[in-house]
Amino acid sequence: MSKQKQPLKSGEKILFGIVSVFIGLAVIGYVALETYRMTRAEPLYENKTSYVFSEEGKLGSVLFRKSRCTACHRALRNGTNMGLSLDGVGSVRTLDWLVTFLAEPEKTYGARTFDHGPRPKEAAYVARMSEQDRHAIAVFISQLKSEQGSSSAAMPPKGGSAFIDNMIGAWAPASWKERYTDIRTKQSVESPNAMQEPKQEIKSSAQEIPPPVQGMNKPQELNSEQQ
Ligand code: HEC
Repeated sequence: MSKQKQPLKSGEKILFGIVSVFIGLAVIGYVALETYRMTRAEPLYENKTSYVFSEEGKLGSVLFRKSRCTACHRALRNGTNMGLSLDGVGSVRTLDWLVTFLAEPEKTYGARTFDHGPRPKEAAYVARMSEQDRHAIAVFISQLKSEQGSSSAAMPPKGGSAFIDNMIGAWAPASWKERYTDIRTKQSVESPNAMQEPKQEIKSSAQEIPPPVQGMNKPQELNSEQQ
């Protein structure tokens, strides 16, 4: 074994050179971004998820963490991204759906699942938890709401979006356009987020319908009128 140091070969020099350029750029980028973030008065990203917990929901949030759900899921910015992020899911899934999913995941999805489902799947234990605990957790998840336009909301941003129109124009196959209706024009009343926006459309299509029917669709508005 020779103790003499060998000079770097030119290939090695190029390789180390490239690696150090990358490391240098990463460090510069990180420092620049952090400086920008810290000097901004507003947060870099608008937070579009929210929650208001009932007593059972609060209990559910404790059980959620204790039951190792955070090993795969993220909620309230805790946990990992191994599974799905559950922030905002309460605006897409109903409480009933969540209760049923936790007990019978594959039946509810109508498809094979990765982690929820019978053993030896890793989240098989969820279906075997007590019904009471699963219910509390489902209530907790159902109270994780998202605003219209957030990535976890059922409804895309209000108004038109040139970006979405371009993406649909460029990427959606013709068969999709025949088979599916654009959710922005469909305006279902089932989706809680859709309730604020579709008023105009309901009005225009419901002009011949007597007012009580409209009120039935919107119990909250009915209440505020009574007060
Ligand atoms: C080993 C990882 C893992 C663990 C642990 C886990 N999950 Fe999941 N979860 C997933 C994956 C992956 C999915 C997507 C469905 C599937 O393929 O299983 C999912 C889907 C879900 C969904 C459906 C979301 C949707 O909108 O489709 C809910 C709700 C959920 N999990 C809740 C929980 C709760 C509550 C716990 C803890 C009691 C838990 N999960 C533990 C991996 C996990």
